[in-house]
Amino acid sequence: MPLIAVLGGDGIGPEVTAEARRVLEIVVPGLDYEEAPVGGAGYDASGHPLPEATLALAKRADAILFGAIGDPRYEKLERHLRPEAALLSLRSELGLFANIRPATIFPALADASSLKPEVVNGLDIVIVRELTGDVYFGEKGQRVLDNGQRQGWDMMSYADYEIRRIATVGFEMAKRRKGKLCSVDKANVLETSQVWRDVVIEMSAQYPEVAVTHMYVDNAAMQLVRAPTQFDVIVTGNLFGDILSDQASMCAGSIGMLPSASLRAWVGENGMYEPIHGSAPDIAGQGKANPCAAILSAAMLVRHSLGDEAAAQRIEAAVSKALDDGARTADLGGTLSTTAMGDAVIEALA
Ligand code: IPM
Ligand code: MG
Repeated sequence: MPLIAVLGGDGIGPEVTAEARRVLEIVVPGLDYEEAPVGGAGYDASGHPLPEATLALAKRADAILFGAIGDPRYEKLERHLRPEAALLSLRSELGLFANIRPATIFPALADASSLKPEVVNGLDIVIVRELTGDVYFGEKGQRVLDNGQRQGWDMMSYADYEIRRIATVGFEMAKRRKGKLCSVDKANVLETSQVWRDVVIEMSAQYPEVAVTHMYVDNAAMQLVRAPTQFDVIVTGNLFGDILSDQASMCAGSIGMLPSASLRAWVGENGMYEPIHGSAPDIAGQGKANPCAAILSAAMLVRHSLGDEAAAQRIEAAVSKALDDGARTADLGGTLSTTAMGDAVIEALA
């Protein structure tokens, strides 16, 4: 039986992950589960945000259900001991170079966005974000200049093969959807982006069925709030994708609704699935968090790591139905607790 590593992490991570697991247990009975600490919880358990046993489990598992990491209590630690380091190591150790972040609006939530309903109606975007390169993983440091000033520096780079493999995911995703791919870069200023754009242009000849456009990241940020429904698939680098995916989440209403998948292959390989919201330490342990993003991440797990499209759609339809029936956690203006929202989704599965 496939093994699911459950890494709940910090803050609301364990609470929302528990609901996702409950849904998974019903929709795909018989999976094996193993839990392990990560992030601040990993540091507390064994002095490192990514304990060896946790990494070993993540490598051995068929898929990883991930909660969230981070807590202000760990911000003063050295960078490699902070919770975020666990997430970055998992991504690079497992080679999860493709981060899929859909931003869709559920009909019942059309007025939950801070944008006007007529602007976000029908929103259905996928951001394909490169996840193991860019300025995130380049050399970095702090130094003191001759004049005594401190200087921080981070190296940004993309090699041909890194761009090709993530662009391939973008093209393949666009092919399966509306056939529109927007590649986002900053080629008017950055050499890294010039190579990115050149490679995407070269590759576009192999995908005549996909209409490719190129957009500078500042313009893309503007277009995402001006007219977000113009986008189908966006492919971009690690840093730009980090920023644009948070922005896109707000077009879709609550950040509590959006799942993500981190993959190294389209289907059938160990991937990591996590809500894009963070650990929200301010509401941790209060049973207030919205578990929908985690539940929808479980749907992505079923789709990509278990290859069961029908079961994935069953979960997604249940979330949509629960919302149609009026189920709302606090972030959506309702009063349901985390587990009550999980119950509502489970009821809607029937
Ligand atoms: C994300 C997060 C992470 C990132 C942080 C927690 C390291 O913001 O997954 O988007 O920057 O990639
Ligand atoms: Mg982010």
